[in-house]
Amino acid sequence: MTKKQINEFRFFLKDSIRQMIDFSLTDQSMGLQPPPLEKPYDKGYTLIKLPDFQSIIDKETSLFEAINNRRSHRVFTKEPLKLDELSFLLYTTQGIQKVINPAVALRTVPSAGCRHSFETYITAINVIGLDKGIYRYMPTKHSLLPIRLDENIETSIIMGTLGQSFTGKASVNFIWSTIPYRMEWRYGLASHKVIAIDIGHVCQNLYLSAYAIHCGVCAIGAYDQLLMDKLIEVDGEEEFVIYIASLGKIK
Ligand SMILES: Cc1cc2nc3c(=O)[nH]c(=O)nc-3n(C[C@H](O)[C@H](O)[C@H](O)COP(=O)(O)O)c2cc1C
Repeated sequence: MTKKQINEFRFFLKDSIRQMIDFSLTDQSMGLQPPPLEKPYDKGYTLIKLPDFQSIIDKETSLFEAINNRRSHRVFTKEPLKLDELSFLLYTTQGIQKVINPAVALRTVPSAGCRHSFETYITAINVIGLDKGIYRYMPTKHSLLPIRLDENIETSIIMGTLGQSFTGKASVNFIWSTIPYRMEWRYGLASHKVIAIDIGHVCQNLYLSAYAIHCGVCAIGAYDQLLMDKLIEVDGEEEFVIYIASLGKIK
């Protein structure tokens, strides 16, 4: 690790890039159409409508209590996650509150320029009402799109997370991908730092909302990029995995 390398990599964390970019040349400034706010899907697939979660939010949990007691958990009980609980967690992490137009929506998390570059995939391992496999959250319809059923999903996620075995004992793993062009369309090369910042908000919401339903979460930043991209069936260039979190019931 040379000083030159360190400085090059530290540069990513700075906002110096903003002074180096000609924002009049971004795709947005050049009049190109914005990408859709949600990755399109083949209409031949049947979506699974996620249930109402009102009964969960009726049980008040103090925000301070959730913030103050949040911890990373790597041991989960065998109690399955209910579908309304999953519905709640998907809403609090990436749910859409208001669609402004086909390219812009307000969500439960903030995002630089409201560009929201993420898609959410889950590995369903122990969820009542869901067969084991990979699903994608469709926030505009608050539904799940089945990607692939997989009886051995536990093995795949453990391998994809470099042998972190608790991922296979979780009820679900949240796998967040980014579609960087959603951000690049507006910010060009100034996109990548804010994408990294944005995903932190998503996972923090997961930690806090999980607390309200007696679940534990562990964020995962160490994973095999190629295996994880393959697992959720994305190309690894225009869309790739950026962050993962395991979640399950705790004692
Ligand atoms: C960006 C990021 C990446 C992380 N990656 C992993 C991981 O790959 N495996 C793991 O077991 N924990 C991971 N963690 C969890 C941290 O180890 C944990 O947050 C830290 O030890 C502090 O514990 P606490 O969350 O209970 O406060 C990660 C946390 C963050 C924020």
